[in-house]
Amino acid sequence: MENEKKLRIEYLRKILNDANYEYYVLDNPTLTDQEFDKYLRELEILEEENPEYDSPFSPTKKVGGEVIDSFKKVRHKLPMLSLPDVFSLEEIESFNERIIKNSIEPIYVCEYKIDGLSVSLHYEKGELIYAVTRGDGVIGEDITHNVRTIKSIPLILKQPIDIEVRGEIYMPKKVLDEVNEKRIKTNLPILQNVRNAAAGSIRQLDSKVAAERKLNTWIYHLPNPEDYGIKTHQDALQFMKDLGFKVNEKANKVVKGIKEIERFIDFASKKREELPYEIDGIVIKVNNLASQKKLGFTSKYPKWAVAYKFPAKEVLTKLSNIVFTVGRTGKITPNAVLEPVILMGSTVKRATLHNEDYVLMKDLKIGDIVSLRKAGDVIPEVVEAKKERRNGSEKEFQMINNCPICGSILEKKKDQVDYYCLNFSCSARKVEALIHYCSRKAMNIDGLGVEIMEDFYNLGFIKTIPDIYQLKNHRKDLIELEGYGHKSVDNLLNAIENSKNNSLEKLLFGLGISGIGDKTALLLSKIFRTMDKMIEADYEKYEDIKDIGPTLAKNLVDFFQDKINLELIDNLKKLGVNMNYLGSVDKYNENISGKRFVITGSLSFIDRDELSKVIESYGGFTSSSVSKKTDVVIVGEKPGNKYDKATELEIEIWNEEKIKSIVDNF
Ligand code: IVH
Repeated sequence: MENEKKLRIEYLRKILNDANYEYYVLDNPTLTDQEFDKYLRELEILEEENPEYDSPFSPTKKVGGEVIDSFKKVRHKLPMLSLPDVFSLEEIESFNERIIKNSIEPIYVCEYKIDGLSVSLHYEKGELIYAVTRGDGVIGEDITHNVRTIKSIPLILKQPIDIEVRGEIYMPKKVLDEVNEKRIKTNLPILQNVRNAAAGSIRQLDSKVAAERKLNTWIYHLPNPEDYGIKTHQDALQFMKDLGFKVNEKANKVVKGIKEIERFIDFASKKREELPYEIDGIVIKVNNLASQKKLGFTSKYPKWAVAYKFPAKEVLTKLSNIVFTVGRTGKITPNAVLEPVILMGSTVKRATLHNEDYVLMKDLKIGDIVSLRKAGDVIPEVVEAKKERRNGSEKEFQMINNCPICGSILEKKKDQVDYYCLNFSCSARKVEALIHYCSRKAMNIDGLGVEIMEDFYNLGFIKTIPDIYQLKNHRKDLIELEGYGHKSVDNLLNAIENSKNNSLEKLLFGLGISGIGDKTALLLSKIFRTMDKMIEADYEKYEDIKDIGPTLAKNLVDFFQDKINLELIDNLKKLGVNMNYLGSVDKYNENISGKRFVITGSLSFIDRDELSKVIESYGGFTSSSVSKKTDVVIVGEKPGNKYDKATELEIEIWNEEKIKSIVDNF
């Protein structure tokens, strides 16, 4: 009897999973809605009565119901890279030329660029185990509970294999309209565009809400094709389709050369309006996977693909005012206050005008009618003033002389365009620094965004970075604040505690050292591995690093010599904030990481550039001349006078055998 029930449950799961696949992936329903609902109800009842047969792979999970407390952070097995954007045919031509120059046949797959958010799906023995957002490309968030509710994502594959696939989660255009209609009726603000709407839906703690948003997917990337003996991207797409994924085969096209790419762009631009989902461009990928491998990656992007973005749409509106904001470094930025206007699906009220010169160069006057577009589809940009529409009532732009927040006199450094408020105690600078510290690429503390930080600063809860970690002492006060409850306060306090375990590069970026972006922070963390080593390092040590010029080296040394900054670091250490690089250990080698190398003479087993790359990938660095700061000189055949200099300075010398034994062990 029991066994019969189990068999019936398994049978129902199979027909319902198959029906979902046929309906949502193949767009070819085999069951009527009534039949589907009947089977689903029967399965729900059986599962309720027999909880011992519960399974995360049951089609009943597609309706949602699982609620989580917070989003777990997950490190991607391979970084989840995005693509370099191109905006013109010329840029596509130079991409094509680069491919040909590398002796690679210019055969590509052109695909739609789906406007949503990317996701990585992991299956073991054919079962969906977890799903992660892209996050910062290295660490994403576990969104499995919501992904299980997406009808076109299979819970079970057609083969019991281990696999990771990547693709885009999107909200169909019609669903956005439906959701917004309901929101207008209930006085809720509308969701601005399909991308934000999809991202907002996938970041719901309650999977029932996500399920109601009717999200959908297209799968377009297989990170480990060699594991399955696959040779082309086209075959990878077919392979993923055969496993049960929704692959956009009607839109994916293998093309040869630039003319055929152009034809695909024309085709996609014409189709765009009538598609049930938004696309914002096309993606062009080298088809042959061995060629992709040969081309490799930059630190940010694959070299074998580009994303062509459709031209931005422009709209007109009135520039009603220009106001000034103060950044964390004290930089003053003029901002356009605009009469609200909808541009590519979202309402625009403000746009940065960067600096005084920018406003003067565009000859903007307050009261002008201006054209707006979205740079890279996200950031609104004032293109130009429509001078023919001026009526004489427009007011000249006037740069300010005093900080709009603290009133101190602004300064402009020689040969620079920006004005600065130099008052370290200026509250605007302090708040901006705190917001930056908590931002996604820095310490990634969810829940401490712009408005909340401003409130907490004004309420006196957070005045300095260490105060963030003492916020738990205000737990009672926080719970009483409007819009807060036990749960959201605890989520915030947990996010703060969790941030203590971030790797060094996030902290380093968060400290806001002038000129140190997230990429440089990562490079430095890989090389030095601990905050203490960075504090100890001198100017030459920094300047020796490729990509660190004299200005950055000076900024770093100045920062780490400043007593106030050292006190801050010490305080954070005492509060338990991690000060070490936690990146992959296989990229650490005690013989190489953090050391400075000079290579001289020719090596028989590897060329010098290749060897430099290997050394750099392990956090070592190479320079061309021998100095007291050099740690090791690698000597090949016919070394130059660098060898003599190394001997003279008693620097460690490695011969070819020694470096070969280390490199072979990599
Ligand atoms: S391929 C390593 N293909 O566009 C290559 N991306 O700007 C991985 N996107 O982050 C991406 N449609 O979120 C690829 N057909 C497509 C895409 C696509 C949309 C998104 C994706 C990616 C971004 C790149």
